[in-house]
Amino acid sequence: MTLDTILVLDFGGQYTHLIAKRVREHNVFSDIVSYDISPDDLQNLRKEFNVKGLILSGGPQSVFDLNSPKIDSKILELDLPVLGLCYGHQLIALLTGGSVKPARKREFGITYASISKPVGVLKGLEKKEKVWMSHSDIVGKLRDDFEVLAHTINCPVAAFRHKKCPIYGLQWHPEVIHTERGYKMLRNFLFEVCRCRANWTMEDFIEKAVDETRRIIGNGKAIMAFSGGIDSSTAVALAAKAIDRNLTAVFVNHGFMREGEPESVKHAFAKFDFRLVTVDARDRFLKRVQGISNPEQKRKIIGEEFVRVFEEEARKADAEYLIQGTIYPDRIESGFRKFSDKIKTHHNVAGLPARMEFVAVVEPLRDLYKDEVRKVAKKLELPDRIVKRQPFPGPGLAVRVLGAVTQNKLKIARKADAIVTEEVERAGLGDDLWQYFAVLTNTKSTGVKGDSRAYGYVVAVRIVESREAMTASFAKIPYKILEKISSRITNEIPEVTRVTYDLTNKPPATIEWE
Ligand code: XMP
Repeated sequence: MTLDTILVLDFGGQYTHLIAKRVREHNVFSDIVSYDISPDDLQNLRKEFNVKGLILSGGPQSVFDLNSPKIDSKILELDLPVLGLCYGHQLIALLTGGSVKPARKREFGITYASISKPVGVLKGLEKKEKVWMSHSDIVGKLRDDFEVLAHTINCPVAAFRHKKCPIYGLQWHPEVIHTERGYKMLRNFLFEVCRCRANWTMEDFIEKAVDETRRIIGNGKAIMAFSGGIDSSTAVALAAKAIDRNLTAVFVNHGFMREGEPESVKHAFAKFDFRLVTVDARDRFLKRVQGISNPEQKRKIIGEEFVRVFEEEARKADAEYLIQGTIYPDRIESGFRKFSDKIKTHHNVAGLPARMEFVAVVEPLRDLYKDEVRKVAKKLELPDRIVKRQPFPGPGLAVRVLGAVTQNKLKIARKADAIVTEEVERAGLGDDLWQYFAVLTNTKSTGVKGDSRAYGYVVAVRIVESREAMTASFAKIPYKILEKISSRITNEIPEVTRVTYDLTNKPPATIEWE
């Protein structure tokens, strides 16, 4: 059976992949193509992949910017349903003869849309809906054959449709969870407007990923970075399915691991059948980051050192290919796409130096979000403790010790982190949280310990809820648990005099401090 497909035309928005993922959550296959695809190519894809509709993503540019990305307007005449979001919404209006102008007031965050016509994409919605917006231009006027479906205080045309053709625009982002009924809006588009069949599953993904890995690597040998985290574990399991014992998984202990981590990883994978090599590189990494306090520099150095270690191991293993557990948010946040802004260099991605000695880098999970990876891991029957494990950055505690990293600071951060983990899990909160950890700040503060003055470090506790790490909210943890964490950290770690709780959401903060 051919799957139905929704294509997302990418204008470089932070949420482009999230749109594709949301579509897949409805069991409809979705992929991303560049905005500059020609109408002919689109028609070919349409035939080959049963394309049932297009979604035009948001983007960081203004439609007025010189060289801002535009689609060929013939794409709107293919009799294919189209949904424009944010930049995509403005672009449709502009290309069909409507007007776009700078907004008097930039809208960012949650706002309320008044829905005047609950039809098509907006079918079944209330008169007022909570939506999430982030834009500085607005649609002013529409051509006569279009009609307004909704407005907000600052935005007279917040949603529109063509009166006869299945073309819609939404100024807000239905793909972001803060748009309360965004799920329903996309559902309407997929099933009411595009008439898609819900026939895409995680098994399809596994089959595709295994086939692709096998096709690229053939009878060659591959090496892979294995941290024991959910991403690399899932990638190991997929790769092992594809190339069996031609896979060597290398576990590098860079010394920035959490308490007990190297031992527990070995233990969890004892029953799996692949070549596992453990490298103790603690001294080597610590030497490389000595005195480096710039976070991006730290990330780059650690990423590079990782690759050096891999290259050495690959030579020993005779491996020509490198497999990585990179997932989609790692790539977007490293700014790999045209027009998207760089936020931070994620380990294993932009950290890769040009001097790579591999024939190819294979990233079977590159288009997935974390919750999708967990679904794949479950299907591959990985142990529950891996499936549910909280994410951990590649550079590890080195980016949770702010500023220059030392052995002693690592020890403090590791102990504080273990306390946060223990207390959150003991309270039974772990499953509902995205991440919970400690950050050792480079601020010192006065305290009093046992009647005398103490001068020690400030530890920040970061606990967040999130669905895919693109946005996150600080968790409203009961004070009793925070108090327990704080008192244990200050009691059990003599070098710490103060504990703070991070109350910042993402955006504007990122989840990790560096
Ligand atoms: P930020 O700090 O960018 O983090 O909001 C988003 C998510 O990614 C994790 N993270 C990383 N994961 N390599 C990784 O594999 C990295 O270099 C890295 N840095 C951050 C972070 O823990 C959070 O879950």
